[in-house]
Amino acid sequence: MKNYLVTGAAGFIGTNFVRQVIEECPDVRVVAFDQLTYAGNLENLEGLLNQPRLQFVKGDICDAKAVESVLAGGIDVVVHFAAESHVDRSIMGCQEFIRTNVAGTQVLLDSARAHKVGLYVQVSTDEVYGSLGPTGLFTEQTPLHPNSPYSASKAAADLLVLSYHHTYGMPVVITRCSNNYGPFQFPEKLIPLFITNLMEGKKVPVYGDGMNVRDWIHVSDHCRAIRRVIESGKPGEVYNVGGNSERTNMTITRRLLELLGRDDSSIEYVRDRPGHDRRYAIDASKIARELGWRPQVVFEQGLADTVAWYREHESWWRRIKSGEYLAYYEKQYGRK
Ligand code: NAD
Ligand code: DAU
Repeated sequence: MKNYLVTGAAGFIGTNFVRQVIEECPDVRVVAFDQLTYAGNLENLEGLLNQPRLQFVKGDICDAKAVESVLAGGIDVVVHFAAESHVDRSIMGCQEFIRTNVAGTQVLLDSARAHKVGLYVQVSTDEVYGSLGPTGLFTEQTPLHPNSPYSASKAAADLLVLSYHHTYGMPVVITRCSNNYGPFQFPEKLIPLFITNLMEGKKVPVYGDGMNVRDWIHVSDHCRAIRRVIESGKPGEVYNVGGNSERTNMTITRRLLELLGRDDSSIEYVRDRPGHDRRYAIDASKIARELGWRPQVVFEQGLADTVAWYREHESWWRRIKSGEYLAYYEKQYGRK
């Protein structure tokens, strides 16, 4: 048996990762650690909370005692997803981003080092590389050039993680992935916000000219990439992960309008995001060559499946939009 500590396990990618691991890795036990901020939803782990291979712990990664107590239980692999993840929120104010993404990472690193954890995986983002022009791709050698307070906090954390490898020989690996989409994504991000707005008969707010490009990857492919990195990644290395599916925001908007039976009158062009990165695109050839990982989900199919998932889980996202989901932990565990 291997013991994983998964931070941010009740968020979008953490939930998908925990579900995939519990389903497909019978030799893995998971401690699912999450503070349940606005972005954490314990309902996401429904059906797993009584599973003997999963233990849920509500805790803050900045709380050294709480982190220490889970690592003292014997952890082989730390997979660190917990973060403030939304660029627009970081523009409104970035204190929480520095606290969780930077200081929280330091707390986790120190505790993982003290407990001689076998592997520490930092789940990072392509946004640390900044913005591309119309051509070219981000490789692992692209210099870091974060442009938003969110990406600056993620870049700071990446540098800290690499410094622990260089200074202490700590076994760490960093993954830098492009834009994820799929089930359980919080409806503040482009795709779930637009799907749920259209289902509610509302308009969709397209920033600026809508011609910004993102490289979309289905969350299940990202989770499989992290699992390959845990199995065979080389300590001290960075692995880019991407879906090879560059699309403009307008292309995605038009496809969603089509899938949901709406037309251009549902589009509202709004003021651009300040400092809005124009284009992200990942060269994922290193992880393909060295670890044999490639994305499996074709974007058009993945997007249609995601729309179907939001249709089938209307009560899930309606409870988020109404705020009711925040009471779920209390109902399960009888405390705040
Ligand atoms: P999310 O916002 O959906 O989830 C974040 C989770 O972290 C939530 O459950 C939240 O409760 C938890 N959390 C926040 N602060 C915490 C704290 N102090 N202590 C414990 N838990 C805390 O984010 P996501 O989209 O699932 O992203 C997960 C990770 O992957 C992040 O590190 C993000 O930077 C990275 N990433 C995301 C994407 C993407 O497209 N979503 C792409 C590449 C990398
Ligand atoms: O690239 C990886 C990153 O992808 C992750 O590190 C971040 O955690 C994740 O949030 C995501 O960041 P983006 O800023 O690219 O994602 P978001 O869904 O917020 O926006 C995607 C694009 O859509 C971006 O160009 C801004 C635009 N947008 C977004 C929203 C929420 C709109 O036009 N309207 C909107 O309402």
